[in-house]
Amino acid sequence: MADLVGKDILDGAQFTRDELERIMEVAADFRQQLREEKRSNLMDGYVMGSLFFEPSTRTRLSFETAMHRLGGAVVGFASASVSSTTKGESLEDTIRTVDQYVDVIAMRHPEIGSARRAAAVAEAVVLNGGDGAGQHPTQALLDLFSIESECGSVDGKTLVLCGDLKNGRTVHAGVELYKHYDCKMIFVAPQTLRMPAGITASLRERGIAVEETTELEPALAEADVFYMTRIQKERFADPAEYARLSGSYVLAREIIERVNPAVTVLHPLPRVDEIAADVDSLPGAAYFRQVKNGVCIRMALIALVMGKV
Ligand code: NCD
Repeated sequence: MADLVGKDILDGAQFTRDELERIMEVAADFRQQLREEKRSNLMDGYVMGSLFFEPSTRTRLSFETAMHRLGGAVVGFASASVSSTTKGESLEDTIRTVDQYVDVIAMRHPEIGSARRAAAVAEAVVLNGGDGAGQHPTQALLDLFSIESECGSVDGKTLVLCGDLKNGRTVHAGVELYKHYDCKMIFVAPQTLRMPAGITASLRERGIAVEETTELEPALAEADVFYMTRIQKERFADPAEYARLSGSYVLAREIIERVNPAVTVLHPLPRVDEIAADVDSLPGAAYFRQVKNGVCIRMALIALVMGKV
Protein backbone atom coordinates (compact mmCIF):
# COMPACT_ATOMS: atom_id res chain seq x y z
CA MET A 1 0.00 0.00 0.00
CA ALA A 2 1.23 3.46 -0.88
CA ASP A 3 1.62 5.56 2.24
CA LEU A 4 3.05 9.02 1.70
CA VAL A 5 1.98 10.56 5.02
CA GLY A 6 4.75 12.73 6.44
CA LYS A 7 7.14 11.92 3.60
CA ASP A 8 9.38 14.57 2.10
CA ILE A 9 9.26 14.69 -1.71
CA LEU A 10 12.92 15.09 -2.63
CA ASP A 11 13.74 13.11 -5.77
CA GLY A 12 12.27 10.94 -8.49
CA ALA A 13 14.04 7.82 -7.28
CA GLN A 14 12.12 7.71 -3.99
CA PHE A 15 8.83 6.46 -5.43
CA THR A 16 7.51 2.94 -5.80
CA ARG A 17 5.15 2.14 -8.66
CA ASP A 18 2.33 1.85 -6.11
CA GLU A 19 3.03 5.35 -4.88
CA LEU A 20 3.11 6.72 -8.42
CA GLU A 21 -0.23 5.12 -9.18
CA ARG A 22 -1.74 6.49 -5.98
CA ILE A 23 -0.49 10.02 -6.73
CA MET A 24 -1.89 9.83 -10.28
CA GLU A 25 -5.23 8.57 -8.98
CA VAL A 26 -5.56 11.35 -6.40
CA ALA A 27 -4.50 13.98 -8.98
CA ALA A 28 -7.19 12.69 -11.36
CA ASP A 29 -9.76 12.97 -8.55
CA PHE A 30 -8.72 16.57 -7.91
CA ARG A 31 -8.91 17.36 -11.63
CA GLN A 32 -12.49 16.08 -11.65
CA GLN A 33 -13.29 17.94 -8.45
CA LEU A 34 -11.88 21.21 -9.86
CA ARG A 35 -14.27 20.93 -12.80
CA GLU A 36 -17.17 20.98 -10.37
CA GLU A 37 -15.92 23.23 -7.59
CA LYS A 38 -13.13 25.75 -7.37
CA ARG A 39 -12.05 24.99 -3.84
CA SER A 40 -11.95 22.23 -1.27
CA ASN A 41 -11.55 22.65 2.47
CA LEU A 42 -9.15 19.75 3.01
CA MET A 43 -6.24 21.93 4.12
CA ASP A 44 -8.30 24.49 6.02
CA GLY A 45 -6.19 25.88 8.86
CA TYR A 46 -2.87 24.67 7.41
CA VAL A 47 -0.09 26.92 6.15
CA MET A 48 2.43 26.23 3.39
CA GLY A 49 5.79 28.01 3.23
CA SER A 50 6.70 28.85 -0.36
CA LEU A 51 10.46 29.45 -0.35
CA PHE A 52 11.83 30.23 -3.79
CA PHE A 53 15.51 31.15 -3.68
CA GLU A 54 15.71 30.76 -7.48
CA PRO A 55 13.47 32.19 -10.26
CA SER A 56 10.20 30.43 -10.94
CA THR A 57 6.86 31.18 -12.56
CA ARG A 58 5.02 27.89 -12.90
CA THR A 59 6.33 25.85 -10.01
CA ARG A 60 5.78 28.53 -7.37
CA LEU A 61 2.42 29.72 -8.64
CA SER A 62 1.27 26.15 -9.15
CA PHE A 63 2.21 25.10 -5.59
CA GLU A 64 0.55 28.22 -4.21
CA THR A 65 -2.57 27.75 -6.35
CA ALA A 66 -2.74 24.12 -5.20
CA MET A 67 -2.61 25.12 -1.53
CA HIS A 68 -5.21 27.87 -2.02
CA ARG A 69 -7.54 25.52 -3.88
CA LEU A 70 -7.22 23.07 -0.99
CA GLY A 71 -8.42 25.81 1.35
CA GLY A 72 -5.00 26.32 2.98
CA ALA A 73 -2.89 29.47 3.36
CA VAL A 74 0.50 30.39 1.93
CA VAL A 75 3.42 32.49 3.21
CA GLY A 76 6.79 32.87 1.59
CA PHE A 77 9.11 34.69 -0.75
CA ALA A 78 9.74 34.55 -4.46
CA SER A 79 13.39 35.56 -4.50
CA ALA A 80 16.45 35.00 -2.34
CA SER A 81 17.07 38.76 -2.59
CA VAL A 82 14.16 39.55 -0.25
CA SER A 83 15.05 36.84 2.31
CA SER A 84 17.65 36.97 5.09
CA THR A 85 19.96 34.94 2.83
CA THR A 86 21.28 38.33 1.71
CA LYS A 87 22.29 39.01 5.35
CA GLY A 88 24.31 35.79 5.38
CA GLU A 89 21.75 33.48 6.99
CA SER A 90 22.35 29.80 6.23
CA LEU A 91 19.75 27.73 4.41
CA GLU A 92 19.40 25.59 7.54
CA ASP A 93 18.62 28.58 9.76
CA THR A 94 16.07 29.97 7.29
CA ILE A 95 14.37 26.57 7.18
CA ARG A 96 14.46 26.16 10.98
CA THR A 97 12.77 29.56 11.23
CA VAL A 98 10.06 28.94 8.65
CA ASP A 99 9.50 25.56 10.29
CA GLN A 100 8.12 27.41 13.33
CA TYR A 101 5.35 28.89 11.14
CA VAL A 102 4.22 26.29 8.64
CA ASP A 103 3.08 22.69 8.15
CA VAL A 104 4.58 22.07 4.74
CA ILE A 105 7.42 23.71 2.80
CA ALA A 106 7.64 23.99 -1.00
CA MET A 107 11.09 25.20 -1.95
CA ARG A 108 13.48 25.85 -4.83
CA HIS A 109 17.17 26.57 -4.35
CA PRO A 110 20.16 26.77 -6.72
CA GLU A 111 22.27 24.12 -4.93
CA ILE A 112 22.06 20.40 -5.61
CA GLY A 113 21.03 18.63 -2.40
CA SER A 114 19.50 21.76 -0.83
CA ALA A 115 16.03 20.23 -0.41
CA ARG A 116 17.55 17.24 1.37
CA ARG A 117 19.48 19.60 3.67
CA ALA A 118 16.24 21.44 4.40
CA ALA A 119 14.38 18.20 5.09
CA ALA A 120 17.10 17.18 7.56
CA VAL A 121 16.35 20.17 9.81
CA ALA A 122 12.60 20.69 9.20
CA GLU A 123 9.73 19.10 11.10
CA ALA A 124 7.45 20.22 8.27
CA VAL A 125 7.26 18.09 5.16
CA VAL A 126 9.58 19.41 2.43
CA LEU A 127 8.52 19.40 -1.24
CA ASN A 128 11.45 19.93 -3.59
CA GLY A 129 10.54 22.36 -6.36
CA GLY A 130 14.02 22.12 -7.90
CA ASP A 131 17.51 21.91 -6.37
CA GLY A 132 19.94 23.37 -8.87
CA ALA A 133 20.75 20.92 -11.64
CA GLY A 134 19.70 18.07 -9.31
CA GLN A 135 16.10 16.94 -9.10
CA HIS A 136 12.59 18.29 -9.69
CA PRO A 137 10.26 15.49 -8.61
CA THR A 138 6.96 17.38 -8.63
CA GLN A 139 7.57 18.42 -12.25
CA ALA A 140 8.38 14.80 -13.12
CA LEU A 141 5.12 13.67 -11.51
CA LEU A 142 3.11 16.21 -13.48
CA ASP A 143 4.95 15.12 -16.63
CA LEU A 144 3.98 11.50 -15.93
CA PHE A 145 0.39 12.58 -15.25
CA SER A 146 0.42 14.51 -18.54
CA ILE A 147 1.68 11.52 -20.52
CA GLU A 148 -1.06 9.37 -19.02
CA SER A 149 -3.65 12.06 -19.71
CA GLU A 150 -2.56 12.54 -23.32
CA CYS A 151 -1.59 8.96 -24.27
CA GLY A 152 -3.52 6.70 -21.87
CA SER A 153 -0.46 4.97 -20.39
CA VAL A 154 3.33 5.07 -20.32
CA ASP A 155 3.53 1.31 -20.85
CA GLY A 156 4.42 0.44 -24.42
CA LYS A 157 5.40 3.99 -25.33
CA THR A 158 8.59 5.48 -26.74
CA LEU A 159 9.57 8.62 -24.85
CA VAL A 160 12.11 10.98 -26.38
CA LEU A 161 13.84 13.39 -24.00
CA CYS A 162 15.65 16.17 -25.87
CA GLY A 163 17.83 19.15 -25.03
CA ASP A 164 20.00 19.86 -22.02
CA LEU A 165 19.89 16.45 -20.38
CA LYS A 166 23.05 17.15 -18.38
CA ASN A 167 21.67 20.09 -16.42
CA GLY A 168 17.93 19.52 -16.74
CA ARG A 169 16.57 18.50 -13.36
CA THR A 170 13.12 17.67 -14.76
CA VAL A 171 14.56 14.87 -16.91
CA HIS A 172 16.84 13.65 -14.09
CA ALA A 173 13.72 13.14 -11.97
CA GLY A 174 11.55 12.00 -14.88
CA VAL A 175 13.59 8.96 -15.89
CA GLU A 176 13.42 7.70 -12.29
CA LEU A 177 9.63 7.57 -12.70
CA TYR A 178 9.52 6.22 -16.26
CA LYS A 179 11.80 3.32 -15.28
CA HIS A 180 8.83 1.77 -13.45
CA TYR A 181 7.02 1.39 -16.79
CA ASP A 182 7.52 -0.80 -19.80
CA CYS A 183 8.68 2.01 -22.08
CA LYS A 184 11.61 2.85 -24.32
CA MET A 185 13.58 6.06 -23.79
CA ILE A 186 15.60 7.91 -26.40
CA PHE A 187 17.89 10.69 -25.16
CA VAL A 188 18.69 13.41 -27.70
CA ALA A 189 21.39 15.87 -26.65
CA PRO A 190 24.56 17.56 -27.86
CA GLN A 191 27.63 15.50 -26.85
CA THR A 192 28.53 17.86 -24.01
CA LEU A 193 24.97 17.96 -22.61
CA ARG A 194 24.25 14.24 -22.48
CA MET A 195 22.32 12.61 -19.65
CA PRO A 196 24.78 11.99 -16.78
CA ALA A 197 26.44 8.61 -17.42
CA GLY A 198 25.51 7.31 -13.97
CA ILE A 199 21.80 7.81 -14.64
CA THR A 200 21.94 6.13 -18.07
CA ALA A 201 23.96 3.21 -16.67
CA SER A 202 21.55 2.64 -13.79
CA LEU A 203 18.58 2.58 -16.18
CA ARG A 204 20.35 0.04 -18.39
CA GLU A 205 21.22 -2.07 -15.33
CA ARG A 206 17.51 -2.23 -14.59
CA GLY A 207 16.92 -3.56 -18.11
CA ILE A 208 15.32 -0.36 -19.42
CA ALA A 209 15.73 0.23 -23.15
CA VAL A 210 17.71 3.47 -23.47
CA GLU A 211 19.19 4.89 -26.66
CA GLU A 212 21.34 8.00 -26.99
CA THR A 213 21.75 10.14 -30.09
CA THR A 214 22.52 13.68 -31.18
CA GLU A 215 19.95 13.57 -34.02
CA LEU A 216 16.46 14.97 -33.47
CA GLU A 217 14.58 13.76 -36.55
CA PRO A 218 15.11 9.97 -36.36
CA ALA A 219 14.17 10.09 -32.66
CA LEU A 220 11.08 12.15 -33.39
CA ALA A 221 10.03 9.60 -36.01
CA GLU A 222 9.90 6.90 -33.30
CA ALA A 223 8.36 9.01 -30.52
CA ASP A 224 4.97 8.68 -28.93
CA VAL A 225 5.98 11.52 -26.61
CA PHE A 226 8.61 14.14 -27.43
CA TYR A 227 9.73 15.92 -24.25
CA MET A 228 11.70 19.02 -25.19
CA THR A 229 13.82 20.96 -22.69
CA ARG A 230 15.58 24.31 -22.59
CA ILE A 231 19.36 24.63 -22.67
CA GLN A 232 19.91 25.63 -19.02
CA LYS A 233 21.68 28.97 -19.48
CA GLU A 234 22.07 29.61 -15.74
CA ARG A 235 24.18 26.43 -15.32
CA PHE A 236 26.89 27.50 -17.80
CA ALA A 237 30.09 28.99 -16.41
CA ASP A 238 31.14 30.10 -19.91
CA PRO A 239 28.63 32.30 -21.83
CA ALA A 240 30.37 31.47 -25.11
CA GLU A 241 29.67 27.77 -24.56
CA TYR A 242 25.99 28.56 -23.93
CA ALA A 243 25.88 30.68 -27.09
CA ARG A 244 27.40 27.80 -29.05
CA LEU A 245 24.86 25.27 -27.79
CA SER A 246 21.71 27.38 -27.65
CA GLY A 247 19.58 26.67 -30.67
CA SER A 248 20.97 23.12 -30.92
CA TYR A 249 17.47 21.75 -31.41
CA VAL A 250 14.37 23.52 -32.65
CA LEU A 251 11.09 21.69 -33.00
CA ALA A 252 9.08 23.45 -35.71
CA ARG A 253 5.65 22.66 -37.15
CA GLU A 254 7.12 21.72 -40.52
CA ILE A 255 9.32 19.01 -38.94
CA ILE A 256 6.48 17.51 -36.91
CA GLU A 257 4.09 17.46 -39.86
CA ARG A 258 6.72 15.84 -42.07
CA VAL A 259 8.18 13.33 -39.59
CA ASN A 260 5.53 12.45 -37.00
CA PRO A 261 2.24 14.38 -37.01
CA ALA A 262 0.72 12.16 -34.29
CA VAL A 263 3.39 12.92 -31.66
CA THR A 264 2.54 14.40 -28.25
CA VAL A 265 4.86 17.30 -27.44
CA LEU A 266 5.63 18.16 -23.83
CA HIS A 267 7.96 20.79 -22.32
CA PRO A 268 8.34 21.75 -18.65
CA LEU A 269 8.57 25.40 -19.76
CA PRO A 270 9.87 28.08 -19.91
CA ARG A 271 10.78 27.67 -23.57
CA VAL A 272 13.28 29.92 -25.24
CA ASP A 273 13.43 28.99 -28.92
CA GLU A 274 13.44 25.17 -28.83
CA ILE A 275 9.76 24.86 -29.76
CA ALA A 276 8.64 27.26 -32.48
CA ALA A 277 5.40 29.15 -31.80
CA ASP A 278 3.80 27.57 -34.88
CA VAL A 279 3.76 24.22 -33.04
CA ASP A 280 1.37 25.55 -30.40
CA SER A 281 -1.81 25.05 -32.42
CA LEU A 282 -1.06 21.42 -33.32
CA PRO A 283 -3.38 18.97 -31.50
CA GLY A 284 -0.38 17.16 -29.96
CA ALA A 285 1.14 20.32 -28.48
CA ALA A 286 0.29 19.56 -24.86
CA TYR A 287 2.63 21.85 -22.91
CA PHE A 288 0.01 24.29 -21.69
CA ARG A 289 -2.35 21.48 -20.70
CA GLN A 290 0.73 20.09 -18.89
CA VAL A 291 0.94 23.34 -16.87
CA LYS A 292 -2.65 22.89 -15.69
CA ASN A 293 -1.92 19.33 -14.64
CA GLY A 294 0.72 20.72 -12.27
CA VAL A 295 -1.92 22.13 -9.95
CA CYS A 296 -3.74 18.78 -9.67
CA ILE A 297 -0.47 16.94 -8.97
CA ARG A 298 0.58 19.42 -6.30
CA MET A 299 -2.87 19.31 -4.68
CA ALA A 300 -2.51 15.52 -4.61
CA LEU A 301 0.97 15.66 -3.10
CA ILE A 302 0.05 18.16 -0.40
CA ALA A 303 -3.09 16.22 0.52
CA LEU A 304 -1.23 12.88 0.54
CA VAL A 305 1.79 13.95 2.60
CA MET A 306 -0.48 15.71 5.08
CA GLY A 307 -2.62 12.58 5.41
CA LYS A 308 -5.82 14.22 4.13
CA VAL A 309 -6.71 11.67 1.45
C1 NCD B 1 11.95 23.73 -15.21
C2 NCD B 1 12.90 23.95 -14.06
O1 NCD B 1 12.81 24.97 -13.38
O2 NCD B 1 13.72 23.07 -13.87
N1 NCD B 1 10.84 24.55 -15.20
C3 NCD B 1 9.77 24.25 -14.41
O3 NCD B 1 9.88 24.02 -13.23
N2 NCD B 1 8.58 24.16 -15.02
C4 NCD B 1 12.62 23.68 -16.52
C5 NCD B 1 13.51 24.81 -16.94
O4 NCD B 1 13.71 25.77 -16.21
O5 NCD B 1 14.03 24.71 -18.04
